[in-house]
Amino acid sequence: MTSISPISQLTAEQADAWHGVLAASLTSDLPGEPPPSPQQVHAQLTAGLDSRRLAWMATGADGAVTGVAGLRLFTSAGQDHLAELELHVHPEHRRAGTGSRLLAAARLAAEGEGRRSLIASTAGGGPGEVFCAAHGFRRVLTLNHLLLDVAQADDTAASAEHPGYTLTGWTGTVPGELAAAFATAKNAMNDMPTGDMDYGHQDWTADRVHRMAQVLADRGDTLLTVAALRDGEMAGYTEVVIRAGETRRALQYDTAVVPAHRGRGLGLWIKAAMLRGLRASHPGIGEIETDIAEDNTHMLAVNQRLGFRAHRRTCEYQLALTTA
Ligand SMILES: CC(C)(COP(=O)(O)OP(=O)(O)OC[C@H]1O[C@@H](n2cnc3c(N)ncnc32)[C@H](O)[C@@H]1OP(=O)(O)O)[C@@H](O)C(=O)NCCC(=O)NCCS
Repeated sequence: MTSISPISQLTAEQADAWHGVLAASLTSDLPGEPPPSPQQVHAQLTAGLDSRRLAWMATGADGAVTGVAGLRLFTSAGQDHLAELELHVHPEHRRAGTGSRLLAAARLAAEGEGRRSLIASTAGGGPGEVFCAAHGFRRVLTLNHLLLDVAQADDTAASAEHPGYTLTGWTGTVPGELAAAFATAKNAMNDMPTGDMDYGHQDWTADRVHRMAQVLADRGDTLLTVAALRDGEMAGYTEVVIRAGETRRALQYDTAVVPAHRGRGLGLWIKAAMLRGLRASHPGIGEIETDIAEDNTHMLAVNQRLGFRAHRRTCEYQLALTTA
């Protein structure tokens, strides 16, 4: 008989079991994708910006962990209506009601916390889609994941002239003198297409950008940023993360161009400059993965110019919660 238990403080042994379930689940649903390392999973379980985490584990009669559920409760003012669910059942233990029981526990907790919406990410075409539909979730966003083969990519746009604009870049946290301008530019991400998702908004301040960089540093991740500046203002920026222990694949984080500076090719410029810099500083990195909303045509065009190719899809699902 499977039992579901809340986990208050994950022990090292439980974190290893969590990794085991997650890696088996992802390998089953995304064959060919590199599964996360134990170190990456442990880091994800402990650190998060402006959020708290709750967790549950499903254990079989023999004591083996068969499923895991994590709930991220956002704490900042623009997102404190929202909870994000991560739910995985080991492929050998699916279709036995474990996912439903883990979801019920997480849902109850989210409702108890007064949350309005529960969001979850699933592999496009995977069992998570059917499961979510069976539990009353609604599909609110489709994200196309693209991959860039760094060796084949075209970074010539990095050499373009953009009169009045200069490029800058840094590793880790933003230099102090750019922090306020960076926070202002980050707020431009709030108009990123998020479909029908009840995503809320994030208010970036200099303090928050430093805390975000610290979360990544604490995980052992490397955060690279390239930005375009004009008259002391940040017109746009792009971020790439190389996760701890990663040798091959880098992840694209934000790319944003502030509305007043759009339509001038700055998005392509900063991304091409990032690519060029990455080639020089991290020659072992062979690919960059990005995900963008399927209706984000401008960013798609920029990515195609650089050489990004369609790779896979994820779907974001949302459940309306009943709060007391
Ligand atoms: C989605 C997932 C958590 C489901 O776990 P599970 O323990 O198999 O789920 P349950 O047994 O509780 O399934 C409940 C219902 O969901 C539906 N369902 C789940 N998997 C299904 C599948 N592969 N095909 C068709 N229906 C499916 C069925 O209606 C099922 O009821 P039934 O078995 O009585 O027909 C599991 O497949 C998984 O870990 N997937 C990868 C991670 C993921 O997508 N997570 C996001 C979920 S929010």
